[in-house]
Amino acid sequence: MAEEKKKKRVGIVGFGNLGQYLYEAVKAHEDYEIAFVWNRTLDNLKGKIPANFVLEDLGQFASRNPDVIAEVAHPSISAQYGPLFLEKADYMVGSPTALAEQHVEDRLRQAASHHGLYIPAGALWGGGDIQKMADRGTLKGLKITMTKHPDHFRLASPLKEKNASVTDKAITLYDGPVRGLCPLAPHNVNTMAAGAIAAHNLGFDKVKGCLVSDPSLTEWHHVEVEVIGPGDHEAGKAFSVNTLRKNPAKPGAVTGSATSVSFLSSLLRAHDMGPGVHLC
Ligand SMILES: NC(=O)c1ccc[n+]([C@@H]2O[C@H](COP(=O)([O-])OP(=O)(O)OC[C@H]3O[C@@H](n4cnc5c(N)ncnc54)[C@H](O)[C@@H]3O)[C@@H](O)[C@H]2O)c1
Repeated sequence: MAEEKKKKRVGIVGFGNLGQYLYEAVKAHEDYEIAFVWNRTLDNLKGKIPANFVLEDLGQFASRNPDVIAEVAHPSISAQYGPLFLEKADYMVGSPTALAEQHVEDRLRQAASHHGLYIPAGALWGGGDIQKMADRGTLKGLKITMTKHPDHFRLASPLKEKNASVTDKAITLYDGPVRGLCPLAPHNVNTMAAGAIAAHNLGFDKVKGCLVSDPSLTEWHHVEVEVIGPGDHEAGKAFSVNTLRKNPAKPGAVTGSATSVSFLSSLLRAHDMGPGVHLC
């Protein structure tokens, strides 16, 4: 008789839009099974998932023997639990803006010595190519510009007030290092954080992020990636790549509809790449 293939056990941290999507997709996948689901408020899980999947205390995650843990809750989870997760399992960080805090990035990179730290590419196009250039030191510049309708942002002050002042014209809310932007727009700039992690020779201080609030963009999220490589920039003879990704989004949605699907693909790739940091 053929030996039954061992299913990969997935722990899901957070049961909002992405958590619920991943839960259903993992349950339906023949090679995967649920190890646990944790949510800050247990009431959100009651009646939605069988009791044996519910993990009440996230500190007890190891008792469920997960192979991979997916964080889809909040950046604070990585600071508190990321290194612990990485002692026991692969860890996919759904909120990579957490790594804009240098000590969190340092601790996670250090902890990824037995298992892999996986960063979902999100809406970042060409992340693998950017990482390859960073590995060789040929990446000279990276700028990521995200343009959305004002209702599609969830921002902290002072960007919140600036966004509220948008009427009929597009306004640039921020243009500068990604590190400074992450705490002001943690839910909107995960893609920029993934870019700063891929572009590790530049990092969060040298990768530029630009956030534009555009009232005419009612049904789309735009992500523009500008990569600069070696060459003579002044003479216009430098290597460069520019991409523009247009993602349909429901009015008012922070997460574009293509994102959940892309997120699932990332989770299904988040294994067997060994220790270290991997874009997936
Ligand atoms: N990497 C990417 O490309 C990408 C794309 C979309 C969303 N995200 C991130 O993934 C996470 C989940 O997104 P979503 O659309 O499912 O969000 P959501 O708001 O629908 O769900 C978030 C869940 O996390 C819980 N939560 C909120 N704050 C928390 C905290 N401080 N501690 C613990 N739990 C907390 C909420 O109760 C909720 O269950 C967010 O951080 C979001 O920024 C990443």
